Amino acid sequence: MATLNDEIKRRRTFAIISHPDAGKTTLTEKLLLFGGAIHIAGAVKSNKIKKTATSDWMDIEKQRGISVATSVMGFDYGDYKINILDTPGHQDFAEDTYRTLTAVDSVIIVVDVAKGVEQQTRRLMEVCRMRNTPVIIFVNKLDREGRDPFEILDELEAELKIGVRPLSWPINIGAKFKGVYNIYEHSLDLFTPNKQRVSERVEIDDVNDPRIDEAVGETDAAKLRDDLELIEGVYPEFDKEQYLQGKLAPVFFGSALNTFGVKELLDCFVEIAPSPKPVVAEEREIRPEEDAFSGFVFKIHANMDPNHRSCIAFVKICSGKFERNVGYKHIRSGKVMKFAAPTAFMAQKKSIVDEAYPGDIVGIPDTGNFKIGDTLTSGEEIHFKGLPSFSPEMFKYIENTDPMKSKQLEKGIQQLMDEGVAQLFVNQFNGRKLIGTVGQLQFEVIQYRLLHEYGAQCRWEPISLYKACWIESDDAQALEAFKKRKHQFMAVDREGRDVFLADSSYVLTMAQQDFPAIRFHFSSEF
Ligand code: G4P
Repeated sequence: MATLNDEIKRRRTFAIISHPDAGKTTLTEKLLLFGGAIHIAGAVKSNKIKKTATSDWMDIEKQRGISVATSVMGFDYGDYKINILDTPGHQDFAEDTYRTLTAVDSVIIVVDVAKGVEQQTRRLMEVCRMRNTPVIIFVNKLDREGRDPFEILDELEAELKIGVRPLSWPINIGAKFKGVYNIYEHSLDLFTPNKQRVSERVEIDDVNDPRIDEAVGETDAAKLRDDLELIEGVYPEFDKEQYLQGKLAPVFFGSALNTFGVKELLDCFVEIAPSPKPVVAEEREIRPEEDAFSGFVFKIHANMDPNHRSCIAFVKICSGKFERNVGYKHIRSGKVMKFAAPTAFMAQKKSIVDEAYPGDIVGIPDTGNFKIGDTLTSGEEIHFKGLPSFSPEMFKYIENTDPMKSKQLEKGIQQLMDEGVAQLFVNQFNGRKLIGTVGQLQFEVIQYRLLHEYGAQCRWEPISLYKACWIESDDAQALEAFKKRKHQFMAVDREGRDVFLADSSYVLTMAQQDFPAIRFHFSSEF
């Protein structure tokens, strides 16, 4: 019988991240195909919210409904149990993605070979860097014209601020793309454009093998040998330890659409990617092999049915075995709770599960007990460190337009903030409630949901702000002086922490210069 340790060792929980359109959905789908979790291409794709600039209610509703199913995709691959945590494609939901990254043990970053590193990728990588998350990079769309692979490697290194080491190498690109040489396994994969089948593979002992010349022609074979020599000269040997510490990213090249280079990526991934790691709680470090169960809520998904304010709380298991109908302590409330219908996510289906292990995600139906960041344990008082909130970029005052429904509005705002839809600040100068988001879409979602789920009506009032940042200081007097000077721009977050509302980047820079004793933080985890 498999022990807890065996179960932990075989788990790989990760997320795929990219700038919209680089190929995240396509790659996810191909990985599911290899895992036998789906049988036709297109199954994941149809679930995607279209990345149009204008939002549409149907899209939001559809996204909310379907993304429960695609939030976690679990499947077995060989001896491994893989959990892919989906992250929303729309950049207005970036905050959701940041939080999902707290629940994974590693990530795969997809980059478009023609576009290189784009803005969203850069930001997501910052979150990975904060947590030293191991990263593998997949350079996609080699079947299309794109940039020189060496140039892409330089850009990855400079822009993502991480060491890189190619583990596969393309032979030409675009119309002349012939295949990929697998440096990791010493084999040559020849490109046969085919959307669903695995390509032809030639096992090679050494780069001087004449079979390479036969397969791709002498000129390209010579170019490949030159490139490989350059790679060996420029890039250090792949060092797994450095990868696990988040300092070095192995790079693969391929074409997700053509299922090319994907299996190589997956095979290397399961071998090198970490199984669930210890998690640091405020009290101590929790190791996955500990017998006692612990986990935290990293995502709350509201239900489609507006008449029942039910939702699903996604719990990442950090240690021990989770069992159905066993009482677990909800640390924030101190209550012991039993869950009769926890769900697991396998092969895009959700079904009731009796037990789950570290690295797994269980979905727990809930009616408002949970808040993002909540800890559940077998009894021990531990608090997993709060999930970071990032300094929002868009702000609006929220105003009640139906005085008869102010209670409903209040409750609605509280619950939506618990779900992590946006962040609430209270301006200390005028007492008004300020909502901060990372995208315009959130304001529309909030207004819509307040009306449909809580019967409350609100109106937005614009305010021009550049950033909200958390401030602190060891010097109480300096802090008071700052707050006094900036009293019109001081707010508190839901935990009562001081937040400075800077109305321009100039004002922020000046404040940083003028008040050296104050620390300005751009994420709530400090
Ligand atoms: P995303 O989730 O990162 O946003 O990207 P997605 O997988 O949806 O891919 C974006 C577009 O890029 C899709 O085309 C997809 O078919 C295409 N694509 C993905 N991988 C490759 C590849 O290896 N080569 C080429 N040539 N294209 C690729 P679309 O036209 O937006 O969607 P669809 O109409 O094909 O569904």
